[in-house]
Amino acid sequence: MTADQRVPLVAMHGITKRFGAIEALVDVDLHVHAHEVVALVGDNGAGKSTLAKMISGVLQPDAGMIEIGGEEVALPSPQAAHALGVATVFQDLALCDNLDVTANLYLGRELRSRFARDDGRMEESARRVLRELKSRIPSARTPLRNLSAGQRQAVAIARTLIGNPRIIVLDEPTGALSVAHTAEVLTHVQRLRDLGLGVILISHNMNDVRAVADRIEVLRHGRNNGTFDAATASYEDVLAAITGAVPLGRRTSSRHIAG
Ligand SMILES: Nc1ncnc2c1ncn2[C@@H]1O[C@H](COP(=O)(O)OP(=O)(O)OP(=O)(O)O)[C@@H](O)[C@H]1O
Ligand SMILES: [Mg+2]
Repeated sequence: MTADQRVPLVAMHGITKRFGAIEALVDVDLHVHAHEVVALVGDNGAGKSTLAKMISGVLQPDAGMIEIGGEEVALPSPQAAHALGVATVFQDLALCDNLDVTANLYLGRELRSRFARDDGRMEESARRVLRELKSRIPSARTPLRNLSAGQRQAVAIARTLIGNPRIIVLDEPTGALSVAHTAEVLTHVQRLRDLGLGVILISHNMNDVRAVADRIEVLRHGRNNGTFDAATASYEDVLAAITGAVPLGRRTSSRHIAG
């Protein structure tokens, strides 16, 4: 069975979202399978974060339908999305510098024993997810302020693994990172795929996208503007879909798939 014959973990159909007069998304489709990294690319303002917020239950579409595991779902809140297995790292990581790694992983959903916070159990499962991610963070007790930018991103990604998600959404995880830290974060993204999750990776960086994605979905002015196999797509073709230019030599045979 090929990837496309399986039921997608998440499928978005005809998603439309307006902010007043701005059409942030128009009739957008997106689907992701288990064991698949789908890169969502596009210029500033193309609608990437808006789409991510809809899968995450932060925003609701004006029109369109979202299916998870083949069933139509309503995602009225981040809690609802999380309960259905969607975990998201937003563009601002929302971590707390003064707390350690474990406390950040469990921020807002601390484990409790009968009478008190269960620090032992939280630390144990924090170590487990760091191990699953093959993270090189030395200790689950390290304060966040002692970690590098790449390690903080790793904590934000590890945080998504608490609660057994199926779909991970990463909004620009390497945006502010050095080359070395970027490489480390990309190995974590590959690890998420190895664990069987479906990953939506939003990125501006074509090198990152080509390094880890299986498929590239382009948004332009809030519309689908191309689907590419990451292994074979040429940089020029993807860039042309992002900018709206017609690539040289392809003026008669567009590869773009209409949304
Ligand atoms: N809360 C909001 N209110 C009004 N307009 C918004 C809001 N959020 C996004 N927009 C607009 O919707 C469009 C899509 O924005 P979005 O943030 O999804 O783009 P993006 O592809 O994530 O861009 P970037 O690469 O800069 O992060 C933009 O025109 C943006 O200004
Ligand atoms: Mg964005």
